[in-house]
Amino acid sequence: MANNEINLAIILLKPIVYEHDAQQHSRFSATLREANRKGKKMTQIRGFVRPTRRPGELGVHSLDSFNLVVPDMEAAKAFYGEFGLDLQARGNHFNVHTQGHWHRWGTITEGSRKRLSHLSFGIFEDDFDRFKDRLGHVGIQQLDAPKGFESNGLWFHNPDGLLLEVRVAEKSSPNEKSTFAMTSAPPGSQGSPNRSQAPRTSPRRLAHILIFTADVPASISFYERALGLRLSDRSGDGIAFMHGIHGSDHHLIALAKAQGPGLHHLSWDVGTINDIGLGAMHMADKGFTVGWGLGRHVLGSNYFHYVRDPWGSYAEYSADIDYIPVNCDWRAEDHPPHDSFYLWGPVPPEDFAVNHEVAG
Ligand SMILES: [Fe+2]
Repeated sequence: MANNEINLAIILLKPIVYEHDAQQHSRFSATLREANRKGKKMTQIRGFVRPTRRPGELGVHSLDSFNLVVPDMEAAKAFYGEFGLDLQARGNHFNVHTQGHWHRWGTITEGSRKRLSHLSFGIFEDDFDRFKDRLGHVGIQQLDAPKGFESNGLWFHNPDGLLLEVRVAEKSSPNEKSTFAMTSAPPGSQGSPNRSQAPRTSPRRLAHILIFTADVPASISFYERALGLRLSDRSGDGIAFMHGIHGSDHHLIALAKAQGPGLHHLSWDVGTINDIGLGAMHMADKGFTVGWGLGRHVLGSNYFHYVRDPWGSYAEYSADIDYIPVNCDWRAEDHPPHDSFYLWGPVPPEDFAVNHEVAG
């Protein structure tokens, strides 16, 4: 292996320990204790927003994390690092973070071929037993945690055989619409930095994931029944977008028709169109020239630029996606394909919708 620093040759399957999460939980608990001691309302604590929650209803609150298997860890580090993510080497894997956010959005491990190996969804702690009952009632067989990912969560397969977990976690999905800004320089001043002074783009958080499925309607039903997700919008049986009931973006997860399971893209939230453009330009400068954007979607309304990773999936810079508040009953609609994909933007790459995890 080329990089001794992270010693990737050691592919001993040590359990992935969520030490960063543990530290954050401990800090979070200390903050709660301190607030209680001082008799403050939680909203008075700088940086803390009470998680939004729909009372009495059962549903996951967040797409907590993913695990991506890749055949070349150095290539993953180069791509996602240049994209603006913070990849922290931990033994035989990377933890995936964003600058300035407490959450661990995912892990990357090494394997013979690129594939999405599992997704974890976050639930409130006092919903755990109800979820266990729910999964039993809908006939879902619970599985052991995969080797190296031992946890106290509930593990099971989706209809395509993709491994899912439901685990108790802090709500990492936003509790309100994420900020978005368009700024203009006042007269008499230069609005843009010189190119040599251009800042790097640092995504703020994981926004959503788009995965492939052999049967979109069956998947919608599964995620409604098993996870309590709700349909936001769809386009026939080709694609569907689903949100969390406790306040989330227009979609935590999107489902696209293909021959079988796979990852289409991971989407990362940024705050301006300038961030999207700067990120795309930086990636092109580093050789990651294939992608799609700048454009604006219809379903979700977000501005986007997708950059193709070394294995045919995409990482998306996304800004200003629609938000579905906890008290909003979003009306799902079925949109014709020609009227639902993108509002404006260049023509997508011909193989944009190809599932390379199956085709390759
Ligand atoms: Fe997306």
